[in-house]
Amino acid sequence: MKAVQFSEYGGLEVLKVAEIDEPHAGPGQVRIAVRTAGVNPADWKRRDGYFRDFMPLEFPFTFGFEASGVVDEVGEGVSGVSVGDAVFGLGTGTMAEYAVLTSWARKPETMPFEVAGGLPVVVETATRCLDQLGTKAGETLLVSGAAGGVGSTAIQLARHRGMTVIGTASERKHDYLRGLGAIPTTYGPGLAERVEALAPQGIDAALDIVGSGILPELIGIVGDPSRVLSIADFSAPDHGAQFSTKPQDDPEQALAEAARLYSEGTLRLRVERRFPLTQVGEAQALSAEGHVTGKLVIDVA
Ligand SMILES: NC(=O)c1ccc[n+]([C@@H]2O[C@H](COP(=O)([O-])OP(=O)(O)OC[C@H]3O[C@@H](n4cnc5c(N)ncnc54)[C@H](OP(=O)(O)O)[C@@H]3O)[C@@H](O)[C@H]2O)c1
Repeated sequence: MKAVQFSEYGGLEVLKVAEIDEPHAGPGQVRIAVRTAGVNPADWKRRDGYFRDFMPLEFPFTFGFEASGVVDEVGEGVSGVSVGDAVFGLGTGTMAEYAVLTSWARKPETMPFEVAGGLPVVVETATRCLDQLGTKAGETLLVSGAAGGVGSTAIQLARHRGMTVIGTASERKHDYLRGLGAIPTTYGPGLAERVEALAPQGIDAALDIVGSGILPELIGIVGDPSRVLSIADFSAPDHGAQFSTKPQDDPEQALAEAARLYSEGTLRLRVERRFPLTQVGEAQALSAEGHVTGKLVIDVA
């Protein structure tokens, strides 16, 4: 089967579409014929060697942590899913014609495959962040980096939990944030003053999604470092804030909830651009520029 891989750290030149053996579903897994795989900043960061010191890769490494597709093998001990079911979920090596998923949910009929392929990572991450921050109905949340995949999803899930959300993005994306249910503001100097004007009741918790070095400012705004969480700034614990990187133990619950919320019309995902499997490099280059709205995805089939 075709798979997009790399065998040494480097720029886009190390990326290749390889012909490799198909994977098979082990116990507790399913294999899917992949329709769409999501693109994440972690793809180009891994390729660049960003994580090489604490998360070295075994080469060749196949890109992709999430996908939608149709189940064609069901592993031992798996129940509730059959060959032919359309699902979306988390796994490894999903930028390939076949991939093994370790957690999944049934894809609602109304959810296009390209949306389903881009949802698992952002749903798992946003749910984990909101849980870890101990967010509650009635609270006000500040999201730094609100227009990307994780931010867009965190806004909608926080709104569903009954929270008020202020999100930062460049001005041209403010209507997009409003459409997701957030009160938009720009990032950059003067954030604390802008946020105070928008939320005179105060900010209860903040989510640093971009890792743009603003943890001290976010802690100043919230007033309690334990209610500030970053998913991109490794220095968070040095400031007394939380850092979250490890996927939750039971992502299936979050995926099933996302399917339910999508069916109800409460959760949406904007797919900014779709690329064919041969253009994973172009997708990674666009992701690395850092201004994606929603998600980029790869159409495998
Ligand atoms: N630790 C974990 O478990 C985990 C999980 C998933 C992702 N991550 C990390 O989280 C980060 C975000 O992921 P993502 O998928 O949401 O990324 P993304 O979709 O690529 O985010 C792009 C968004 O970031 C915004 N942005 C860029 N610079 C900004 C700034 N200084 N302030 C506020 N917003 C800014 C952009 O808005 P503008 O165009 O308006 O600038 C753009 O809409 C990445 O670093 C990723 O590696 C970590």
